Order: sequence, then C-alpha cells, then structure tokens
Amino acid sequence: MIRFGIIGTGRISDWVLAGAAQDPRIKIAAVCSRTADKASEFISRHPEAAGAKVFTDVAAMAADPEIDAIYIGTPNQTHHSYTITCLDAGKHVLCEKPLAVCADEAREMAEAARRNGCLLMEAMISTLNPNFRAAVEKIEDIKPVRQYSSYFCQYSSKYEALKKGIMASAFQPGTAGALRDVGIYTLYPLISIFGKPVAISSESMIFKTPEGEVDVHGSMILRYEGMDATITYSKICDSFIPTEISGENGNLILDAVHIARKTEYIPHAVPTSGQGPRPVSRVISEGLEYNEYYYEFKEFVDVLESGRRESMINSLDTSIAVMEIIDEALAQNKCPSTK
Ligand SMILES: NC(=O)c1ccc[n+]([C@@H]2O[C@H](COP(=O)([O-])OP(=O)(O)OC[C@H]3O[C@@H](n4cnc5c(N)ncnc54)[C@H](OP(=O)(O)O)[C@@H]3O)[C@@H](O)[C@H]2O)c1
Repeated sequence: MIRFGIIGTGRISDWVLAGAAQDPRIKIAAVCSRTADKASEFISRHPEAAGAKVFTDVAAMAADPEIDAIYIGTPNQTHHSYTITCLDAGKHVLCEKPLAVCADEAREMAEAARRNGCLLMEAMISTLNPNFRAAVEKIEDIKPVRQYSSYFCQYSSKYEALKKGIMASAFQPGTAGALRDVGIYTLYPLISIFGKPVAISSESMIFKTPEGEVDVHGSMILRYEGMDATITYSKICDSFIPTEISGENGNLILDAVHIARKTEYIPHAVPTSGQGPRPVSRVISEGLEYNEYYYEFKEFVDVLESGRRESMINSLDTSIAVMEIIDEALAQNKCPSTK
C-alpha cells in the first residue's frame, strides 16, 4: 500500500483522485491546503480520502513518517520548491505538468530525486494512456517516420475572465501560459518518442495581462534528421484536428493527443496519385477501461514496486528536454520568464 499525501485542493486534485482511487494499492493518507478548512472540505467531498490527515504546511506533511508519496496539484511556480521539500524529506513525488517553470528548475528537481533515491515523475497523462501506447507499439510498422503533427487548442473559460482583467494561474506571466499549459500535451509525447529535435522555430501570440505579458496561442516547427514535427496549441480557440504520425509505410492517428480515446492505423496503400480509394484504417486502440488519471498512478506505483526510481515512459530526461524546448520557444518570442 502506498500512502499518498495530496497538495492542493483545486479541480485537478478532484480529477486525479478519481483515478488514484481505482488503484487498490493506493491510500489517500493526507491532504495539504493553504487553509485547514479547504483540506477538510476536500476530504469530505471525497469518500476515498476519508480519515486523511489535514496539513497546512508542505514541510510538515513531507516530514510525516506515515506518508510514502506526494502528489502535487498546485500552480506551476510552486512545483520546484514543493517537490524539493518533499524529496529531501524522503518522499516520492508525482508532480503535475509542467514539471517546472523552466529547464534549470527541472534539472534541480531531477538532481534532488537522484540525491535522495526517490521517484520523481511528471504527471503527464497523455503518454501513459493505453491508446497512446498502442500507437507507440505500432510505430515500427510505419517507419521511417517523416512527420508528426499535433494539436491541442482549447478555448479557456479563464480567458473570458482574463479579458476582464481577472487573472488565473494558467495565464500567470513568466510561469504559465499556453505553451506550458496546453502546448506541453503536444510536445511531451513527441519528445518521449523521438527525443530532442535538432532545431525549433516557434511563433507565440502574446496577451497583455494586468501582471505582464503571457503567451495564449502558438505553433512550432521542430526539425529532426529525416523528419519534422509541427505543433499548434491555444487557449483562445478550439481545434478538432487529430494528431498524426506519418511514415513512409503508413500513418497513425490519435483523435486527441491530451487524452486519446481512439487510435487508428492506416497502412500505406499503393500510390494512386490521389485517384484510388481512400486507404482503409484500422482501429488499434481498445478504449479506456479506467479513469484517464488512473494510468499515471498505476505507472508511479508500478515503478516503485519494481524497485526502480524513474519511469522509463515519463522519464526525467524527457521532462528536462521538454522544458529546454519550452524555454527556447518562449525566448524566441521574447516571452518574459521569471528566471
Ligand atoms: N493533468 C491535467 O489534466 C491538468 C489539468 C489542469 C491543470 N493541471 C496542472 O495542475 C496544476 C494546477 O492547476 P490549476 O489550474 O488546478 O491551478 P489552481 O486552480 O490555480 O490551483 C490549484 C490548487 O493549488 C492551490 N494553490 C493555488 N494557488 C496557490 C499558490 N499561489 N501557492 C500554493 N498553492 C496554491 C489551491 O489549493 P489550496 O487552496 O488547497 O491551497 C488551488 O486550489 C498546474 O500545474 C496545471 O498545469 C493539470
């Protein structure tokens, strides 16, 4: 049984708890909030957290010997300090995406995990989704891969508020913005499969908030040896275009990269210069048996039970590489950074 402490009582903690609760190896042992009332309310609205201890101080929760691991579901600017506090107290950490605000922070967090012999994993659900894994397993059949194109554009209700001057953590200049908030869902799967590109070129749309400038929409071209990738992400418009991996021997299509519900494989057909019938696609995914957040907790506990201290899927090298690309993309667009 892994005894989890949860930091943050917002909607993301509500959502992930539904997934964690489906793994019988997990017990919710504590909840940490900036106020005791909110922690108690959180516990009372989640029967799976019944009996959990209440904390209002991260260091105090991290020091509790009756907790093994901590999930961090708080705004990006807190990830670095909360994670290091927990790791230095000997706790394993599952931290929300983006792992950090920038690559320097991510490297320090990875170093703290290795120094303490603890597991640190970014809670990136996309790559652990079985429907995404189905695509990864099929890549061999479509090689050589020539293109990856991915979209995650979701009009944010908080953008409505932002236009009236009301800030949300997802639009916090220097620590959040569209690339760190939603663009990362298109980027992380790419880097987890193909590694770091040789070059990137990025375009961001900037919005002036009362607290400074932040990116709200953007796109990027990432160049690889023999392949390129394009990503488009937005918090100011929607997109319903699927994500596609194209190879000389076929294509793989994910209906949505964030949470894939359906994955299709289209073997390369005889060239017909566009005149022949459309190639027949085959669904290679089986749907989701569990809540979409279950799979990140399953991976986390599987890694712990195996005795390893790093996920081979959501590895720290991938998290760091993703943050390096985000840093470079934002710098290309002169987006202000807190670092
Ligand atoms: N995986 C996903 O599907 C997904 C979806 C959405 C967001 N996220 C990630 O989850 C994290 C939180 O995002 P969110 O939109 O839920 O943020 P949020 O609503 O602003 O904050 C979440 C919780 O963190 C605590 N908190 C808020 N501001 C804080 C501060 N300044 N210092 C310390 N704690 C603070 C609050 O809990 P208390 O009041 O109890 O302290 C709050 O309810 C982000 O890193 C985001 O990228 C992931």
